[in-house]
Amino acid sequence: MKPYRIAAIPGDGIGQEVIAAGIAVLDALAERAGGFRFAFDRFDWGSDYYKAHGVMMPADGLAQIKDHDAIFFGAVGAPDVPDHITLWGLRLAICQPFDQYANVRPTRILPGITSPLRHVTGPELDWVIVRENSEGEYAGVGGRVHQGHDNEVATDVSMMTRSGVTRIIRYAFELARSRPRKRLTVVTKSNAQRHAMVMWDEIAAEVARDFPDVTWDKMLVDAMTMRMTMKPQSLDTIVATNLHADILSDLAAALAGSLGIAPTANINPERRFPSMFEPIHGSAFDIAGKGIANPVGTFWTACQMLEHLGEKPAADRLMRAVERVTADPALHTPDLGGTATTQAVTDAVIAAIRGDN
Ligand code: NAI
Ligand code: MG
Repeated sequence: MKPYRIAAIPGDGIGQEVIAAGIAVLDALAERAGGFRFAFDRFDWGSDYYKAHGVMMPADGLAQIKDHDAIFFGAVGAPDVPDHITLWGLRLAICQPFDQYANVRPTRILPGITSPLRHVTGPELDWVIVRENSEGEYAGVGGRVHQGHDNEVATDVSMMTRSGVTRIIRYAFELARSRPRKRLTVVTKSNAQRHAMVMWDEIAAEVARDFPDVTWDKMLVDAMTMRMTMKPQSLDTIVATNLHADILSDLAAALAGSLGIAPTANINPERRFPSMFEPIHGSAFDIAGKGIANPVGTFWTACQMLEHLGEKPAADRLMRAVERVTADPALHTPDLGGTATTQAVTDAVIAAIRGDN
């Protein structure tokens, strides 16, 4: 049986805890499912590696993981290393060269979890946010001169390309088409940002012509925050720029109950490079080492990884097991108002996998 070769990069803080939990669950799942198995290669890249070597990953790091079937990533960030170094030195250093331009973030209210929105019980909130993941506001274009002087100048230039915008909008329309409601909302800010965002809108209208079966609309990002909270049922698939979707997806995660349950997939749709799967949360120094990190976001991203690998039945089985566990408040970690540990949740998910028919 040919194993799926997975590059596991736990990174920092609770990344270590949730990836260990994710590996245990994936191994149990492969054992239960039969027909496939995993070979995990573990990479100790991150802030400790940085403190020892002056870089977040070795110079040939990408070559070490480029032939893996997928990357299973925890989080990066340490209190004593600047965030732009950890983020650009590892996570973005993988996403960009591997052209993982589609960042896909499903959000819904899992059984047993209470949304902070009092009129939402579950089915009203079922979204997938597609985030442009290669350019825009996080293209890295800009600079700083005259540092520390009164005439210091600093710029971060949002850079959007016709090809980059077209491919992400097209990806979002395809995804919207594959979902039952076939509905897409294109988030914009073309009233204030009158160059790139206007091109973004024009390209959306062009691509839309190829998807007559998808209902789509356009929404300014500020108004979008209101719509997400007031009329969540009016949304299904959402596409937004790198920065806008970064912010909106944290809001989405909070509205679905906790940042700790939210997953994300960094996809290279052409499969020229491995795609990367991670929980959306960071390294959470405030709870690192306490054994109480919620592993559900990691389990959910493992489902996304299984789907990407073509193991849809196994992905469904894992999601069923996760939902059986979230339905029981005794198995909620503190971020969900409970007292369960990472280990207890992980053991319960493994038991649910073993008991699943
Ligand atoms: P964070 O996501 O690490 O934590 C925000 C809050 O949510 C904290 O109170 C934390 O305890 C809680 N939380 C997050 N994940 C949780 C989980 N699985 N279970 C229970 N509670 C959870 O974001 P923060 O505090 O802004 O950043 C901490 C570090 O993480 C920074 O260095 C930041 O740059 C980095 N970061 C890295 C990301 C990545 O690797 N993709 C994403 C976001 C932040
Ligand atoms: Mg974020």
